[in-house]
Amino acid sequence: MRIVVGITGGIAAYKAVTLIRQLTEAGHEVKVIPTANALRFVGAATLEAISHNTVDPDLYTDVADVKHIALAQEADLIIVAPATGSFLARTAAGIADDLLSNVVLASSAPVVLAPAMHTEMWTNAATVQNVTTLRSRGILVIDPASGRLTGSDTGVGRLPEPEEIARIALGALLPRDLEGKMFVVTAGGTQEPLDPVRFIGNRSSGKQGLAIARAASARGAKVTLIAANLEVVEAFDTIHVSTAKELQSALNVVDAKTDCLVMVAAVGDFRLAAPHDQKIKKASDDVDLTLVLERTPDLLSETSTRLRADGADCIVVGFAAETSTSQTELEELAKEKLNRKGCDFLVANDVSNGKVFGLDETSVLLLSKNGTVEEISGDKSRIANRLLDSVSKALNQS
Ligand code: CTP
Repeated sequence: MRIVVGITGGIAAYKAVTLIRQLTEAGHEVKVIPTANALRFVGAATLEAISHNTVDPDLYTDVADVKHIALAQEADLIIVAPATGSFLARTAAGIADDLLSNVVLASSAPVVLAPAMHTEMWTNAATVQNVTTLRSRGILVIDPASGRLTGSDTGVGRLPEPEEIARIALGALLPRDLEGKMFVVTAGGTQEPLDPVRFIGNRSSGKQGLAIARAASARGAKVTLIAANLEVVEAFDTIHVSTAKELQSALNVVDAKTDCLVMVAAVGDFRLAAPHDQKIKKASDDVDLTLVLERTPDLLSETSTRLRADGADCIVVGFAAETSTSQTELEELAKEKLNRKGCDFLVANDVSNGKVFGLDETSVLLLSKNGTVEEISGDKSRIANRLLDSVSKALNQS
């Protein structure tokens, strides 16, 4: 995708360098347009090196190429980060007095602005009105984060982290095909206590579940995230759980109104029947320790059985972690799991040799109850969106 990254004159301009790097590393062609004031904070040489493109913010060079129109027409997406209070005001008023503002005015591509300024400037009535005007015209204005500002003060006005800006901006290009659909997504991994200090857990990072929740939300769904041992603060409803039992009761939110349940969380299959109230102490002559574990219920099977019994029209997606020796074996194991757990779709991961857990790039098989099998490779957001394409199609057929 061709992305114009505009940078305006605020201290957070240095963070744009990371944003540009993330976008180029994700395979996007990035053209950077700093304002004159942005160049007081970050140098053109840095921006050229990081974007692999020349940087010439002067409106009056290469005039014969009509470059503001060429840049505006070529862009699939425009992101301005940071966007100062002054830039918001000029854009709201339609003022075009430098290359960046000309490109924004001339382009029909989606525009995403990431403001950063002191709290007093962000909450000033003029800025509030400018943001309302911009949003009413379909420009996506990201709310600034809260935290430490340039001086010793803290408050709302910080530029969100570059990864967050990239995710929201790229999400603006997604179809809104899940508008109003109710999704419940589980993510992370359960932990079963042995005593107040120790637990049995697993290596799930929660990244894939979070990627699905974010993608579904970006595509218009109303998402409830059930987060097992994850510290997440997201724009959607989140229920925090730790054990399989807590996850089991949280799953009561899945009801006849739920359009899709995506069960990504790695649920422990065994737990200590009676966790110790006190720390398990070793005696000096202890050489081993025997713990008796009991099975946890299969929450996915249980929930899909309940939904089917209630006649609910909910698409159920399961995940499978397998240590298989071949693709054929992975497919066989996944087919069996899909049927056994009453899923409409199942995403199968090969987790042998440390693959998948915590990694950003992965490769999975997507199976459907209709017998289709598709291999998907890429980052977790790509896998999330491919899965949601299939879910969306199934929802529109039902
Ligand atoms: N799952 C569940 N409850 C459990 C175990 C797993 O709901 N007690 C769900 C997971 O959320 C996932 C799917 O079942 O969507 C498959 O998880 P996986 O660990 O691969 O399967 P297991 O049931 O543990 O099967 P096996 O022991 O044969 O690998």
